Amino acid sequence: MTNSVKKKSGKTAAKKKNTPDIAIVPDYVAPSLTNAALVARREAAVPRGVASATAIFADYAENAELWDVEGNRYIDFAGGIAVLNTGHRHPNVIAAAKAQEDHYTHTSFQVVPYEPYVALAEKLNSLAPGDHAKKSLLVTTGAEAVENAVKIARAATGRSGVIAFTGGYHGRTLLTLGLTGKVSPYKKDVGPFPADIFRAPFPSVRDGISVQDALTGLQNLFLTDAAPERVAAIIIEPVLGEGGYTPVPFEMMHALRGICDEHGIMLIADEIQSGFGRSGAWFAIEHSGVIPDLITAAKSMAGGYPIAAVIGRAEVMDAVIPGGLGGTYAGNPVACAAALAAIDVIEEEGLLARSMEMGDIFRARFAEIGARVAPFRMWDIRGLGAMLAVEFVTDFDSAAPDTALNKALISQALKRGLILLGCGMHGNALRLMVPLTASDEIIEEGLAIFEASLVAALAEV
Ligand SMILES: Cc1ncc(COP(=O)(O)O)c(C=O)c1O
Repeated sequence: MTNSVKKKSGKTAAKKKNTPDIAIVPDYVAPSLTNAALVARREAAVPRGVASATAIFADYAENAELWDVEGNRYIDFAGGIAVLNTGHRHPNVIAAAKAQEDHYTHTSFQVVPYEPYVALAEKLNSLAPGDHAKKSLLVTTGAEAVENAVKIARAATGRSGVIAFTGGYHGRTLLTLGLTGKVSPYKKDVGPFPADIFRAPFPSVRDGISVQDALTGLQNLFLTDAAPERVAAIIIEPVLGEGGYTPVPFEMMHALRGICDEHGIMLIADEIQSGFGRSGAWFAIEHSGVIPDLITAAKSMAGGYPIAAVIGRAEVMDAVIPGGLGGTYAGNPVACAAALAAIDVIEEEGLLARSMEMGDIFRARFAEIGARVAPFRMWDIRGLGAMLAVEFVTDFDSAAPDTALNKALISQALKRGLILLGCGMHGNALRLMVPLTASDEIIEEGLAIFEASLVAALAEV
């Protein structure tokens, strides 16, 4: 770390505390903004519906660290909501994006197509599970990918019904909100939602819903509201994201595959949060061995650039007529280049194996910290690989969700320089989205802050 920041003028300014080594940003100038002033401007200019989990404003970020505009340093265990499996500004991702920018930044694939789109589609087709022929559509956001997966499934089957699950999260557009299984804050006051969307129960230890109960619920749905021959797709997150980082039991995933095969229904795996190494595999569904018909992907696919995909069986993907898919910005070339580089990083740096290793480290350390400072308050440590969550309860007997403790922990951690994010139907789970490129030292530093913050939070609630 240097201890001064070079101004654009060439003069050297006094460096703020912990300001990063700016060697790779030669004209970096530390801002003179304050978080409080920006919060006030933001409140006046931006609608309150766009809530932020923190009241700090970003200035600079690198790998698993971030600095705010006041020069405060944070360890980032949230990764911009699971977008940064390859870390903030991975040098290879940045270099690929810059190289692309020197050629062209936009032509619209529907007007003048370009090779990076095709190369990314080829790569995604080769990474997705299953030996069958595949094709990929590129769009910009996760919700857009889900919308398109539903359109494709409808065109391929000639049916309209879609079944989603309790606690599932699929986006904030009206169709994807219809699929999302949580009212507050996402669906409150903004309905009605599109027709022909049905909800089946997700298996839940907390709610006493076994896999068999969940499957019975689905069969009942077929009898009561959604005749299976009218259902185009069943969409499920192989590990619930916003809903609490709960993996779908493999037995359930296999049963869904069987039900879809029996009734000619498309199985859509929504891997927007769980994909690209988060769970220790390219796609979390691979852990179960089930092959879906369609996969939606986004987030960590491009290391911080906005791009999303639908990957699926070639004949299914081709069901929509020419012109029926796309979008002005869909598959932006800079984001395609970034995605190809991010995928290479995951391969070259062995990040799938690192995710499994990280998962083991965090599981063991969370359990140890829980036993030491919060006995009988960490009810569950669950997930796949580094897609882990810790669920807090008031006590083990009632297992009542302790949302207050989780909130206090998150806010205590931020004060100490660690960014954490919650999840779950009751907001009492903490999810781990730390870059898979984070070093053991950074992880340990973050865990030490986690422990101190948990102690402080327990004293506060
Ligand atoms: C599983 C899942 N599906 C869909 C989405 C929506 O993606 P986006 O926010 O990019 O629209 C998300 C976002 O968190 C997600 O986790």
